[in-house]
Amino acid sequence: MTQHALLEDDLAPFGEAYGPGLMNNFAPLRAEFGPARLKLLSGKVPANLSGVYLRSGPNIRFEPSGRYHPFDGDGMIHAAHFENGVVTYRNRWVRTDAWKLEDEAGRSLHAGVRETRKGRSDKPLKDTANTDLVAHAGRVLALWYLSGDAYEIDPVTLETKGKCPGIVASGGAISAHAKVDEITDDLIFFDYGTEAPYMHYGVVGPDRKLKHFVPIELPGPRLPHDMAITEHYSILHDLPMLYDAEAFALGRHKVTFDPSLPARLGVIPRYGASDSIRWFEFSPCFIYHVVNAWEEGDWVVMSGCRYMPVLDKDGEIDAVRTARDVAELVMHARLWVWRMNVKTGETHEEMLDASRNVEFPTFNSRLSGRRTRFGYLVDHSDTRTLQWYGIRKYDLDTGESLGSWSDSSAHSFYSEPWFAAADNFAAEDDGYVVAFQWNEKLKRETLDIFDAKAIENGPVAQLEVPFRVPSGFHACWMAADRMAK
Ligand SMILES: [Fe+2]
Repeated sequence: MTQHALLEDDLAPFGEAYGPGLMNNFAPLRAEFGPARLKLLSGKVPANLSGVYLRSGPNIRFEPSGRYHPFDGDGMIHAAHFENGVVTYRNRWVRTDAWKLEDEAGRSLHAGVRETRKGRSDKPLKDTANTDLVAHAGRVLALWYLSGDAYEIDPVTLETKGKCPGIVASGGAISAHAKVDEITDDLIFFDYGTEAPYMHYGVVGPDRKLKHFVPIELPGPRLPHDMAITEHYSILHDLPMLYDAEAFALGRHKVTFDPSLPARLGVIPRYGASDSIRWFEFSPCFIYHVVNAWEEGDWVVMSGCRYMPVLDKDGEIDAVRTARDVAELVMHARLWVWRMNVKTGETHEEMLDASRNVEFPTFNSRLSGRRTRFGYLVDHSDTRTLQWYGIRKYDLDTGESLGSWSDSSAHSFYSEPWFAAADNFAAEDDGYVVAFQWNEKLKRETLDIFDAKAIENGPVAQLEVPFRVPSGFHACWMAADRMAK
């Protein structure tokens, strides 16, 4: 495989008819590759890093049957497996039910989110498993943002093994951003939908069986994207990002933002009953992604990226533009902290850094739900969809930027970076930050490894990936000891 062997063929495999979502850095790969050892371009692969970096994203297999949105593409996983200083790459599609059906038919059978589906029961939306990857109980779950199946993936071979039995037992739906408590190996999840009670909450144990599952009643259909956990609680989101009822009745997917409603965060004990949830109200906003959450005495603290509502020329919230930008993944996010006192009901919220548009956060996931000082986020382009041109380390207590790295030419598209704890780590930031990088100008894909204690020094190792990894969504790191469970 040479660097550019696939590019010419792949830049726009379906032509330009479907728009930018299938072109340039978004153009899908047409095949699966590897395992292939990656060639070192500079530096040295850390000897104390064992595990696998996995990145998910849309990679449509057959020509779309209608209008295309990046949310529609079949889930493909790109993996970089670290073992004894050697890094091995693979990519594989997730063998979803829909993927298998289309494989047999040899063509697309599903509608995209931009299409009108009224009266089109022959063209359902596709559960693509393309959104997030969550490492649990020795396997990786490939998940979908609209709530779908939990496909279990072998973290090394990327073979689709089946569906998580605990999620099947719950009724079969899980949203993309489930959380794993890496100390207890509980998988904590929610689903959401368009019918009452509009949300469920549950816990799957380390044996992959359902341990807890309760309905959560919301005031109406919502589009929550993420959740958070602490040692004893979970935090569920009821945000004023709603389905547009009129459009929904016409079979269209359209979202609307209602700034007259508060953002509500619901704190529920990890194994709590439905009525044990306590809701706390904050200024109206949407939240794509949480960094981490933890407890400080009676306070439950959630650190995350607040989607800043778009303002009109009079300084009022422009609900239409806000909803449109959220739907099109145009990010205007700021690092934020929300605090809730479970004894007194008090709340406090604060912007930690007013100046930077940062998103797609990661932290030392060994400490999920426990107090963490450091977060690692991407510098997000204000204008280009999913262009993450730099990586930045934050002090989550003060909002201070502790160091960043970006390609000064701004031609970089990083994939979601993930913090990878060093083998036998001691301090919270003993480890590395790993990400793929597509350099648009050089037409070069690399795997970049940063020392988490000195992001600003640039990658300690850079390896050549022999072809472009299409821009995608979320990633995870699974340490070697967690792969063996
Ligand atoms: Fe997400």
